[in-house]
Amino acid sequence: MTAASITAPLSTLRPDVDRITGRRRLRRNRRTDWSRRLVRENTLTVDDLIWPIFVIDGENRREPIAAMPGIERVSADLAAEEAKRGADLGIPAVALFPNVEMALRDQTGSEILNPDNVMCRATQAIKEATPEIGVITDAALDPFTDHGHDGILRDGIIVNDESVAQIAKAAVLQAKAGADIIAPSDMMDGRVGAIREALDAAGHSDIAIMSYTAKYASAFYGPYREAIGTDATLKGDKLTYYVDPANSDDALREAETDVAEGADMLMVKPGLPYLDIVRQVKDTFALPTFVYQVSGEYSMIEAAAANGWIDGERAMMESLLAFKRAGADGILTYFAPRVAEKLNAA
Ligand code: PBG
Repeated sequence: MTAASITAPLSTLRPDVDRITGRRRLRRNRRTDWSRRLVRENTLTVDDLIWPIFVIDGENRREPIAAMPGIERVSADLAAEEAKRGADLGIPAVALFPNVEMALRDQTGSEILNPDNVMCRATQAIKEATPEIGVITDAALDPFTDHGHDGILRDGIIVNDESVAQIAKAAVLQAKAGADIIAPSDMMDGRVGAIREALDAAGHSDIAIMSYTAKYASAFYGPYREAIGTDATLKGDKLTYYVDPANSDDALREAETDVAEGADMLMVKPGLPYLDIVRQVKDTFALPTFVYQVSGEYSMIEAAAANGWIDGERAMMESLLAFKRAGADGILTYFAPRVAEKLNAA
C-alpha cells in the first residue's frame, strides 16, 4: 500500500468502509512464524555490515576499552587477523580508527601526513593479508591533534581551508596505503571536492568517497573518545562544525553539497536518534546511504544488557533492523562480527 492510499480517506476508496474496517484483522498475518516471515518488509544481512576497528602501534598488542565492553584496540598485525575473520564471516568492509601515541599529536595533526603512520600501516597489513575485504579510512585530524579537534586550531578557531588541504593530502596517503574508500568525518566545508581532486590528481580515481555527510554534534560519541584518546585531548566542543541536533534541513544542505562535490556514498551519524535523517537523505539523493551506530549507542545496549535490564541480543538485532527500515544500505556497527556470526548460524 502506498503512503498516498493510506492517507486518502478510506471512505473514498471503499464506500463500505465501516463494514470492512469492523472486520479487519491485522493480526491474521502475524499468526504464525511462516506468515510473519512471508510478509516481512525488511531484513538484515551480513552484506549490510561495516566493522569499525581501533588500531594502535606495536605488535601483537590488544588493549581493552573500558567504556566499550568487548571492544579492543589492536596493533596492525592483529587488525589484519580481525579483518581476515571479518572477511571469512562475509563482512564486506572494515573501517579503521587510530589511537595515535600522545607524543606524536600536535597542533596541526602533522602525523597524519606520515605515510608510515598507524592508520597507513594497518591499512597495508589488512590489504596484504586479506585483499578481498574493503578498507575504509577516516581522514579527520582529531586522533592526530593535541587538542582533539577534526581540523587545525588557530587562535581558538578551527580553520577550514587549511584543514581541508591537510585532510586531502592525508586521503591520498591512505589511498596509497591501500584504502578503498576514504570516509572524511571532519565536517569541514569543501572537503569532499578537495579529496576527490587530490585523489584524481594522484591517479586514484577508482577510490571512492563515503562522506560523513550529516554528522551531528552528539553526546553519543563519548566512549569513542576514550577509545582513540581524545577524551583527554579535546578542548571545548565541536559545535562550530558538526550539525546541530535540532536541525534536519541543514543535514540535507550538507548532503546536497557533498553530492555536488562528488561523494559516492553518504553517511548519517549517530544512528538511532537520527533515523528521520537517514530516511530523508536516502529518499532525496538516492545514493548508497549508510548509518553509523556510534559508540554511545553500542555501550548503552551493552550496559543495559549487563545489568539485566534488556535482552542485549534482541536489542542489538532490533536496532540494526531499524536502520534498514529507515532506508540505510549499510551500517557501521561495533556489533558487526557478533551479528555476522549470529546471522551465519541461523
Ligand atoms: C571524529 C569522529 C567521531 C567518531 C568517529 N570519528 C566523533 C567525535 O569524536 O567527535 C565517533 C564514532 C563513535 O562514537 O563510535 N572525527
